[in-house]
Amino acid sequence: MRQYIVAGNWKMNGNEALLIAVREALAGVETKAEVVIIPPYVYLPSATQHFRDTNLVVGAQNVSKHEEGAFTGEISGLMLRDTGCQYVLVGHSERRTMYGETNEIVANKFVAAQRVGITPILCVGETFSERGAGKTMAVIEASLEAVRAQVGIRGFGKAVLAYEPIWAIGTGVAATPEMAQAIHADIRKWVAKYDEGIAKNLQILYGGSVAPLNAQALFSMPDIDGGLVGGASLKPDGFAEIVAQAK
Ligand code: 13P
Repeated sequence: MRQYIVAGNWKMNGNEALLIAVREALAGVETKAEVVIIPPYVYLPSATQHFRDTNLVVGAQNVSKHEEGAFTGEISGLMLRDTGCQYVLVGHSERRTMYGETNEIVANKFVAAQRVGITPILCVGETFSERGAGKTMAVIEASLEAVRAQVGIRGFGKAVLAYEPIWAIGTGVAATPEMAQAIHADIRKWVAKYDEGIAKNLQILYGGSVAPLNAQALFSMPDIDGGLVGGASLKPDGFAEIVAQAK
């Protein structure tokens, strides 16, 4: 059985007080999910502190492909590990579209995370026009293939995937559970071509306007193993409701 993961990607939002509010809101919530909080870099050490005696774990939003050196403004996997970080997002669509991250750069970051024992959460997804043109799986497969080229299919055995259709991010219009399920199943099939065992165990999260009202329907789909939540993760009570839907 694959365990659910519900991850809150704060993006460039939140503060110290929100870490505490989230901890309070989630205390005592019953869930089958591992809950991952992904705040901006500067809050990682205090997130680890605040979550010390809880089941909450901490993730980062980005990582350098380098281990150390003259890379002003970058943060390495080793540094993330020092903060107690267990996960890192790689290839979020905002990084791809606003900061020019190509499939190859994303694959390098995936490698950098695994090198230090941090689990990458690889984000993939199509734009509205790519979907319209019937290119959804081609776009996703190109992202997956770039990673496979570097780490082989075995690399997917120590990673999490997140399907985030770009048209659903921050729009309030989530993919329907059926639409998301279809893509999740296709992603799993792509992995199964190379290794059925890895495909069966691979956690694939859905992201894009996940909210308290749609989480249960999404999470009940057979190939949806939880959610990557943006805006709704900034409201502690609503986020706790989403977490409680993973059952
Ligand atoms: P929203 O939940 O705000 O649509 O954001 C999704 C996302 O990008 C999570 O990484």
